[in-house]
Amino acid sequence: MMSETTEISPFNPASRRSFLQKITTLGSLSLLRSAALMAKANDDTLQVQAGPYLQNVLHDEATIMWITDRNCFSWVEYGDGNHLHRKFFDVQNGLIQANNRVNKIKLKGIKPGRSHKYRIVSTEIVRVSGSQFYFGTTFTSPIYSFDTPAADASSFRMVVFNDHHERPQTIPELLYRFGYKGNEKDFDLVVFNGDVFDNTESEEQVIQQFLRPCVDIFAKETPFLFVQGNHEVRGAFSRQIPGYFSFVDEKFYHAFNRGPLRIIVLDGGEDKSDDNWEYRGLVAFDPYREVQREWLRSEIQSEAFKQAPFKVVLIHIPLWHSGDWHGPTHCREMFGDLLEQGGIDLMLSGHTHRYGIHSPDADHSYPVMIGGGPVAGNRTLIKIACTRENLQATMIKDDGEVIGELNIKPKKKR
Ligand SMILES: [Fe+2]
Repeated sequence: MMSETTEISPFNPASRRSFLQKITTLGSLSLLRSAALMAKANDDTLQVQAGPYLQNVLHDEATIMWITDRNCFSWVEYGDGNHLHRKFFDVQNGLIQANNRVNKIKLKGIKPGRSHKYRIVSTEIVRVSGSQFYFGTTFTSPIYSFDTPAADASSFRMVVFNDHHERPQTIPELLYRFGYKGNEKDFDLVVFNGDVFDNTESEEQVIQQFLRPCVDIFAKETPFLFVQGNHEVRGAFSRQIPGYFSFVDEKFYHAFNRGPLRIIVLDGGEDKSDDNWEYRGLVAFDPYREVQREWLRSEIQSEAFKQAPFKVVLIHIPLWHSGDWHGPTHCREMFGDLLEQGGIDLMLSGHTHRYGIHSPDADHSYPVMIGGGPVAGNRTLIKIACTRENLQATMIKDDGEVIGELNIKPKKKR
């Protein structure tokens, strides 16, 4: 700026006019620049750090989650017609949830087999004094939509990742190569079958390595399911992980129906025994798997399980073909006999990083598909396409090679 002003003599009228114009222009630019810098410095507007992302979409419910950068009062505006005619809040013990950042809002009792519209709204809470809340600015998202299946839907499709171990680029790379056909996705649910992380250290890590890639690609309008692996339970943030996802009954182990499929999710826990020095006496996976055994015993007796044409188990540590460390061994002891009794059709796992399709044998009467990972050339995507007549499971390697394809027919009812 100095060099420009010194070139002009303010005592020459023409030059002076030019000088004043320049000064005015430069002044305006400078002011604009200062204003822009000040605006940037003062840009403290409410931000959504991740979301919205869909969880737990069943025929008559869905959960919508998002994370704000400060405490807010948040809700979902919802409609299944032309208008957003209804608000959903998270109500706990009579209190509408507020003054929080991680939102988990359940839309219960919505119609099956429909398209649903929604947007998220968060209003900053700047101060709370006694029962008085002082509100700041409000964030309102665009309108998104998702579909609920019919209660008796005749088909269902999902894709299953496993063991991408802090390589978030794997999500778009495999989905765009194998999950989309043109602009059309060919999945109703995306499953992450454990070991998304090496260690879970912070919320920032969960957002950057997992939630944002999902939100950016599909999760605003298509749900995903996180299945806990043995690496998620390691690290400073591991005990907070459940708060960032939603499940049936809010448990990592659970079951639900999608179309002709009954999906049973088990948490294999850690791979070494609870008294291993690595865990510093802070784990209790043996009793946790025992609790799951009792739950599984009742699950295989349920009508929802018995009536489903196909039953698929998702568990990070496969019961078979995964060595003889304590984790897999105890999983076999706790779940092996019950899964045989229940007559499951397929087990989908990861953990070993050695992809393979293991046919039924003397140990297990169902095929076990183990996805690979985590490095390029060893990653797989498992695609499930299920109708009442056929359960198709295809394992594709990241270079496009089809490792194998199963076509399973319904068992005759016992
Ligand atoms: Fe792994």
